[in-house]
Amino acid sequence: MSKITAAITAVGGYVPETRLTNFDLEKMVDTSDEWIRTRTGISERRIMKEPGTATSDLAVPAVLEILRKKNLDPKEIDCIICATVTPDMFFPSTANIVSDKVGAINAFGYDLSAACSGFLFALTTGAAYIESGRYKKVIVIGADKMSSILDYTERNNCIIFGDGAAAVLLEPNMEGYGVQDSLLKSDGTGKDFLHIKGGGSLRPASVETVLAKDHFIYQEGKSVFKFAVKGMADVSAELLERNNLTGDDIAWLVPHQANLRIIDATAKRMGMPIEKVMINISRYGNTTAGTIPLCLWDWQDQLKKGDTIVLAAFGGGFTWGATLVKWGF
Ligand code: UT7
Repeated sequence: MSKITAAITAVGGYVPETRLTNFDLEKMVDTSDEWIRTRTGISERRIMKEPGTATSDLAVPAVLEILRKKNLDPKEIDCIICATVTPDMFFPSTANIVSDKVGAINAFGYDLSAACSGFLFALTTGAAYIESGRYKKVIVIGADKMSSILDYTERNNCIIFGDGAAAVLLEPNMEGYGVQDSLLKSDGTGKDFLHIKGGGSLRPASVETVLAKDHFIYQEGKSVFKFAVKGMADVSAELLERNNLTGDDIAWLVPHQANLRIIDATAKRMGMPIEKVMINISRYGNTTAGTIPLCLWDWQDQLKKGDTIVLAAFGGGFTWGATLVKWGF
């Protein structure tokens, strides 16, 4: 009997209308368009600024797009996993809120927290449900409303991140399409370099935590940069090696969009020409769990059934990893 693989059979995505350009940021903090573009590759990012909106409002249009494209009844969905570090609330999970909003009343769901690697960790988890033979339709979402945890009065982080979400549908396949292999890594010592201090059980929200700006992202960019370049390049090269592949066998590299210089380094290490690398950081910035599925969403018309692609990520935790996928539609 041939093995069941988890094929990606549809992609949906959503970015908010509002664009926050580098020139807008020049008026808000001490920075310049030139600095941001040359150091990160970002020109603008999307921001969901309407009051009362949350990460689920980014994820719902992405899921609805999948349902529409596949002519699916939401009741057929077995499971929804939402990778995010900006859940609507601590609990219930954003996945539950999304299920309710789209009418996926038969789905179980939960959130997965692995920062910028969240989509890869969730994709690997969702694929295992399909491979088990027990579930037929799993939706994996990467969604983050990063503007909700950014301090727009200091220049370090607000120039990097944006809001966005995208999702994929996983279905069983008997012809070998879908997730082939995943190499996922974590290192808890990374917590010192990239975190949010306040609001958890260690430092619950208080007047003091608010005044100390402890609910915003803290990042030591230079240190994270060094770990990210090495982590993402090493894990991608290791994944290729253990599957006896070289860059020539890969149709597309789909890297997490944190910094153009990190993407360049990973592509070089894998021997991939830049024309075969999905890059949309200039338009969306770093949308954390959203970056990789948003690339798939943007490039879906150029992807061909059977293309071998590598998804690669590095993020807070530290967490990092790479996933090999044979494109399924
Ligand atoms: O996705 C999750 C994982 N996160 C990442 O992968 C992010 C990794 N880190 C990075 O992408 C980069 O480190 C940053 C984009 C965050 C910063 O770039 P950098 O080249 O590492 O800059 P830096 O922090 O070393 O700062 C260089 C200079 C400093 O000035 P001096 O000391 O040389 O005079 C900074 O004060 O640039 C200054 N600077 C800025 N100038 C204008 C820092 N931020 C800004 C800014 N605008 N926004």
